[in-house]
Amino acid sequence: MGRKAIITGVSHWVPEQVLTNKDLEKMVDTTDEWITTRTGIKERRILGPGKGSSYMGVKAAQRLLKERGISAEELDLIIVATVTPDTMFPNNACRIQHELGAKNAWGFDLNAACSGFIFALSTASQFIESGKHNKVLVVGTDKMSAITDYTDRTTCVLFGDAAACVLLEPGEEEGYGVLDFVNYCDGSGKDYLYLLGGGSLYPASHETVDKKMHYLFQDGKTVFKAAVQMMADVSVEILERNRLTGKDIAYFIPHQANYRIIDAAARRMGVDSDKVVVNIDRYGNTTAATIPMGLSEIYHDGKLKKGDYIVMAAFGAGYTWGSALVRWAI
Ligand code: COA
Repeated sequence: MGRKAIITGVSHWVPEQVLTNKDLEKMVDTTDEWITTRTGIKERRILGPGKGSSYMGVKAAQRLLKERGISAEELDLIIVATVTPDTMFPNNACRIQHELGAKNAWGFDLNAACSGFIFALSTASQFIESGKHNKVLVVGTDKMSAITDYTDRTTCVLFGDAAACVLLEPGEEEGYGVLDFVNYCDGSGKDYLYLLGGGSLYPASHETVDKKMHYLFQDGKTVFKAAVQMMADVSVEILERNRLTGKDIAYFIPHQANYRIIDAAARRMGVDSDKVVVNIDRYGNTTAATIPMGLSEIYHDGKLKKGDYIVMAAFGAGYTWGSALVRWAI
């Protein structure tokens, strides 16, 4: 067996400001009851003006480095999953590298929307397995409030701001770490979940601002149907090809977009509800941060044991979707 990437640290950070369903009732024509029953969300966090998503990524990473007891200079590579980088360029990886003082690391951003963390974890694990690097930081950070139209009740109730990260290092023991991943994309989904303005196709103009093209758009019903199908399929696929069943899984950590999507995937896998990590009620959909944040919460609650099998799964804009199988090694 070749060398595997194990997760040796995990951390998250959320801003203090809370936006509740009751607050949203005052902003748009909605109710706490509608949001709760249709999505499972009760509140989300908001970063506020003057700070970008890299700020949250730095906070999460600093906590991780402290808990792991290593200096930023030991990092070899920083991969940042985000759809809300501080700027088009330079990328968030450079900003985070600089703020951390990770002088010996290179890095890049990866854009796969809500699947960003799974894609980044898959990518990062290869740099460990190849023997090229020994300490790779994977950050998922999104300031969704920066691209959310708070007059559109169909999207503004869904999203929040957060960052979370993991550290990958080579494992000594066989059969632990990032054991497998299954990732897909299908660009025919591009018409149902997108942010059009500010890229090279629709550069910023008065027209793009007037037409609200700098906000995300979602055809919720179409995306919901695809998400239910694909996230469940890819979660079952990774179990089957590793000869595991839902009963073997200690924790299922799904992307947190809608509680009904999470529940459908867990049922298809045959995972009991007490093994499904859910924090959508407190944070909403934080895009690239949801999965590492779920992992960080159960880790810091002392729930993870060495040898636990964990399945992570996501679906997002693109469409993109994927799953990862991790055996907890610390
Ligand atoms: N408050 C009250 N009513 C609302 C509302 C809100 N915040 N948002 C939408 N509605 C209304 C709609 O206007 C619609 O009214 P109509 O029937 O008079 O047209 C009605 O509620 C039903 O809307 P619909 O879009 O069919 O609801 P839904 O049950 O599909 O739930 C989502 C909407 C967005 C919660 C759901 O579609 C979803 O979660 N989509 C996928 C999200 C996702 O996975 N994204 C991908 C990863 S980021």
